[in-house]
Order: sequence, then structure tokens, then C-alpha cells
Amino acid sequence: MTANSKAAIAEALSEVRARTLALVEPLDEEQLNRVYSPILSPLAWDLGHIANFEELWLVQTVGARAPLHGDLGRFYDAIENPRKSRGELPILRDAELRSYMADVRERALEVLDSVDISSAAEDPLLREGFVYEMLLAHELQHNETMLQLLQLVAGYESPAVDDLLAFEPPGAGPETIAIAAGEYEVGAPGHGFAYDNERRRHTVALDAFEIDRTPISNGAYVEFMESTGAKPPLYWGRDGDGWVSTAMGRRAPLAPGHPVVHVSWEQAHALASWAGKRLPTEFEWEAARPRLEAVGHAWEWTASDFSAYPGFEAFPYPQYSQVFFGDEHKVLRGGSWATHPRVARPSFRNWDLPQRRQIFSGLRCARDA
Ligand SMILES: [Fe+2]
Repeated sequence: MTANSKAAIAEALSEVRARTLALVEPLDEEQLNRVYSPILSPLAWDLGHIANFEELWLVQTVGARAPLHGDLGRFYDAIENPRKSRGELPILRDAELRSYMADVRERALEVLDSVDISSAAEDPLLREGFVYEMLLAHELQHNETMLQLLQLVAGYESPAVDDLLAFEPPGAGPETIAIAAGEYEVGAPGHGFAYDNERRRHTVALDAFEIDRTPISNGAYVEFMESTGAKPPLYWGRDGDGWVSTAMGRRAPLAPGHPVVHVSWEQAHALASWAGKRLPTEFEWEAARPRLEAVGHAWEWTASDFSAYPGFEAFPYPQYSQVFFGDEHKVLRGGSWATHPRVARPSFRNWDLPQRRQIFSGLRCARDA
């Protein structure tokens, strides 16, 4: 979906907000404000941050208006405030938080009415509605972060959010797909919304390789654990001889054929080595993407560090991706069951630290041909 007219933008903003609010609808204020984990924000922080990001870009930057609450924005700055400290901040809570979200939205829509979002717009932020696409993507990405936290909320029932698709098992087929050596185009095209780190589109030379047709399943992960003594994924518990999911305080059966999630890069790397294979690089993953099955249930760890593409230019701010470039973070590709389709384009690059398992992360193996 492209938000190419003001009416379409307003509608998309409203749909995405409804999705955000549906996720927290079953929770009380205590649950919204509770710190469940030092690596995940309290939900009230996410909600305030979503609204504050909207105010910063759609009201203050684009509309040149003063902020509603003075310098409140500094408490919602994701770089300035590490996740472990966010529960202690003087952030908005309860009714004040709800009315801030509504007030920001009202102002953002007033500004939208008055700006030029055509392809001829002078400001690259506004041209073809870029800043609105960025806002929608940001909120949807926070929905996924919120769903990570919600795995820790005992008794949480996912509301009927229609794009949280159930996994459909892939059909029968070969174990691996062969990809020929050659030059492959990677990255986002010059037109349409994408983040700065997906550009520029460029050509990479790849040697011939094979990649698994399907991601590693829960059943295959159990085999790996039994054979090597490796640790289980996050939210797995023992149940007699087998394993169950312990997410959301339940003990639910793990479908053996479903892609495994909540695996660290270290675990993914070890599993691939145990299988006599390796993780694909992110460009191998992208080159094979048109032929891969079961993409979109689990983020897939790759062998690649998160780094800049040739000709990278930070836009619209260096804190989105540039500050994370280097050898500390590993790239994940694809998208999980909690990723909105609007976010999960083939060139989208996710990244995290190699020890992290709170994300919906799995893997697919590759090997040299
Ligand atoms: Fe954010």
C-alpha cells in the first residue's frame, strides 16, 4: 500500500493506530507500566514514544509547531534512554498518555492538510509522503517490539489483529535450492519508501551456493539440542520428555514443523555448523528471496554484520541506522509472524546483537555449492 494521497495517509495512520491500541486493549495500567525485562521497554514508554515520534516529525519538523509538553521528548529519545532505564523516567502514563496520543494525532492531521506531498515537493521529507510512510513503518515496528514484551505478560490473549497470520506449512519439495554464481541486484530501488540503510541499490557478485528451501523447524532444533547439549530457545520449557512453549505464562505444545523462533545468532550459527552448513550472507538471502518458502514467520539470522551500502547517505537522521553500523550487530532478513507486511519488503534489514533472543528470530542454512 502506498500512502500517495492525503486521504490514504490519514486512513493508514488511523488503521495503524487502531492496531497499536488493539494490542494493549486487554491490559490494565499496571501492566502497561511494569518493567518486565531490562532489554524491553514498558509498554507505556512505547506508546508515548510512538506519539512523541509522530509529534517530532509530523508536527514539529514538518508543521514548524512548538511541542505540546516542552522538552518531554528527551525521555522518549531511544538513543538517550537505554531500555533498562525507561521504567524510571517521568514519562506520561494513564489518561495523560492517552490524551497526548490523541492531541498529537489531531495536530498531525491539521498539518497534513496544509503541506505539499506531491512528487514535486521541495522538501525530501514530504516528497511523495516519505515522512508519513516513515511514521507508519515506525509505529508498526514498535507493534512488533510490543509483541516481544507481550510474550512476558502472563495470560495475555492476542487480539484479533488480522495480519498476524498463522503459519502455513510449506509443501513438499527439495531440501535445498541451488543459486547460480553471478551478479545480483540488492537493496531498495530508487523510488518508493525504504530506509536509508537499504540504499543504494547495487550489484554484488555471488559464488554459487545452496540454501535451505525452508527455515529450521522446532523439530530440527530439538534434534540439534539432543545431539549437542545446546541450550533451548527463549520461552521453551521441559515437559516430560519433550518441550513446550512457555510464552505468555502458558505451557503450549510446540508444533514440530513450525519455524523455530527466539534463537540467538550464536545458537543459529552453532546449529548451522552442526548441520555441516553455514548461515547465508544477507546478499545470498536477498538473491534467493524470490525462490524461498515460508518467509515471514521468523526473522532469519544471516552471517552479515550490519554495515553501510556503497554510497550510503543518512536520511532523515543518523540515529536510525548509521549509529548501529559496525561489527557488533548481525543482520536479520525476512520478517516474523509479528511483522506487518508493510514493513517486510525484500530489501528490509533488521539487526540485533548476536546474543539476543527476545526477537522472533530463527534461521535458514546455506552452503557453498
Ligand atoms: Fe522508535
